[in-house]
Amino acid sequence: MSIFDANCPKYFATNERSDYAQFLDSMPEEYDVFLSSGVIVGAFGLIGNDSEYKSINWILISPDSQGLGIGSIFMKRAISLANNAEIKHIKIAASHLSAPFFSKYGAVKVLEIKNGWGPDMHRIDMELMVSA
Ligand SMILES: CC(C)(COP(=O)(O)OP(=O)(O)OC[C@H]1O[C@@H](n2cnc3c(N)ncnc32)[C@H](O)[C@@H]1OP(=O)(O)O)[C@@H](O)C(=O)NCCC(=O)NCCS
Repeated sequence: MSIFDANCPKYFATNERSDYAQFLDSMPEEYDVFLSSGVIVGAFGLIGNDSEYKSINWILISPDSQGLGIGSIFMKRAISLANNAEIKHIKIAASHLSAPFFSKYGAVKVLEIKNGWGPDMHRIDMELMVSA
């Protein structure tokens, strides 16, 4: 939650906080954390039971650790996990601020909802095709 708070309100709308707390409370088994000197500095999940796709959920990195390549490691792991699961694509519910990051890995925009996450935080739904 401290990583969420450090990225709010710049990258997450304040109203998303309770959704994230609820997500963590559900103890999602497929949610991975990145440790630096024993401290969690990032997390992401590739989650879902559909035979065709999974979703990247709640990818976030501590501001001090952004720009160091951890997001790239997460994306490569997500693509590798998706290939192993033999699914066709990964869904990503991004924001207008994070969408350019996901584009770097081949994700394309399928829908844009103005203020979709909250005031001035636009929702960009994306899909990344997986080639097994
Ligand atoms: C978006 C985020 C996950 C990226 O992780 P990161 O560890 O900072 O990214 P990396 O250091 O691995 O960067 C990989 C590449 O993506 C680029 N990049 C990183 N964030 C970017 C952004 N928001 N927009 C465009 N490019 C971005 C980097 O410049 C780098 O490019 P390069 O390979 O050409 O050098 C991270 O910055 C973050 O947690 N942001 C705040 C929370 C957030 O918005 N999460 C997404 C919710 S949908």
